Amino acid sequence: MNQSTRAHWSGRIAFILAAAGSAIGLGNIWKFPYITGENGGGAFVLIYLACVAVVGLPILLAEVYIGQKARRNAVEAFELTHKTGTYWRVPGWLGLASAFLILSFYSVVGGWILDFEFRSIINEFGGKSANEIKGTLTSLFTNWPRQLFWHTVFMSLTVAIVLGGVKDGLERWNKILMPALLALLALLLVRVMFLPGFGQAMSFLFSPDTSKLKAAGILEAVGHSFFTLSLGMGALITYGSYLKKKESLPKIVIAVAFIDTAIALVAGIVIFSIVYSFNMAPGAGPGLILVTLPTLFSQMAGGYIISVAFFLLVSFAALTSAVSILETMVAYWTESHNVDRKKSALIVGVVIYLLGLLSVFSTNLLNSPQFKMFAGTLLSKNGLTFFDLFDKLTSSYFLPIGGLLIALFFGWILGEKAIKEATKSDNKLLNKGLLWSARIVAPGAVLDVLLNLVFEWSVLRWLFGMVFG
Ligand code: TRP
Repeated sequence: MNQSTRAHWSGRIAFILAAAGSAIGLGNIWKFPYITGENGGGAFVLIYLACVAVVGLPILLAEVYIGQKARRNAVEAFELTHKTGTYWRVPGWLGLASAFLILSFYSVVGGWILDFEFRSIINEFGGKSANEIKGTLTSLFTNWPRQLFWHTVFMSLTVAIVLGGVKDGLERWNKILMPALLALLALLLVRVMFLPGFGQAMSFLFSPDTSKLKAAGILEAVGHSFFTLSLGMGALITYGSYLKKKESLPKIVIAVAFIDTAIALVAGIVIFSIVYSFNMAPGAGPGLILVTLPTLFSQMAGGYIISVAFFLLVSFAALTSAVSILETMVAYWTESHNVDRKKSALIVGVVIYLLGLLSVFSTNLLNSPQFKMFAGTLLSKNGLTFFDLFDKLTSSYFLPIGGLLIALFFGWILGEKAIKEATKSDNKLLNKGLLWSARIVAPGAVLDVLLNLVFEWSVLRWLFGMVFG
């Protein structure tokens, strides 16, 4: 595609909505609450928030800037922004690997949400107790044909939207559905304030207890700050490449990070208020929202409509995120290998769909004792399923390492001139702050956390212990 005919967003607001559409998804509503529950609450939340502000924001700016400057897909954008060797394709390749793995399990979880939307419509939850709803979830996890069906639906929808192209495919949906999701969450927030467990939920989420946090949990918090902002994989390079050159970036990236974080926190408050009001386990794992929310809906005035609306909006939020992951790959094959857009969306879609089968089978066929014996050390030793493996590998390693490389590229190779161009500001404090955070702080934080994982010692952990210990 030649540069002058390359697709672009219709404007600033459209881009914010698209970037927010990518960022806001299952990461905020499904993943954040359940990993917060597994990692003991407050301390985990604090690290996640600090990472969004200190590590996430500069890298977010870097990605959008690189895309906007290069007007090219994530693999080739680096070398076009600055005449460097083709070894700067490495973060792009790593990003494509992440994209394959992430979308494969993301689609399966998206399928669970679709299944719960269907069950909401046929009023399967009305009047049910928490235990009965838990039974429904267990039966979904053990029923692989049912998961397979919804995984098929989710992946087909994702491919269909990407085939529609940037403007018609994405923009139209984002405009209406993101604000609607926000409004519904606000409503739920007001509702849970009247639940008996609200206070306990607030202290669980916002009073840090470092003793509950292990090295792997710290890495998970850092990794999640990348996952939830769609960072470290080139998705925002790709979206930035459709942004016209005149748009200014800092306000955009701050707006996206702010909305994304607010949604995760509200989802967290809602879910843990339910957990503590109905005596549920905070560390229940990936099924957490699917047990808690229907329990609230089944007891709430207007619960039927709210349940139908909620799972519908979460499905759309998940789809707009999935679309950004697929688009990152499709942009590469169409641009760099001249593959027809339709063809590449279909082929990539099918490959990811097949890879997703491993996640579909993770809670049933592959979870049997027989299989675990057969699979030997890799899976059974850590009790990891493919689903867990793909998630951990990407969130905790690929995305942070990708982000680290992007930060280094921005700080050391592009340097001050580019940062000034990205911020479109002469504010010295801002520009210098960004420069050193891209050069030292963001990469340092990621390295420090990896250090912590290997040696159980790190600079951050030491500081954290001094402050809260
Ligand atoms: N951020 C999305 C979420 O929170 C998921 C996502 C979309 C993503 N695009 C990404 C994660 C790119 C990592 C990289 O649900």
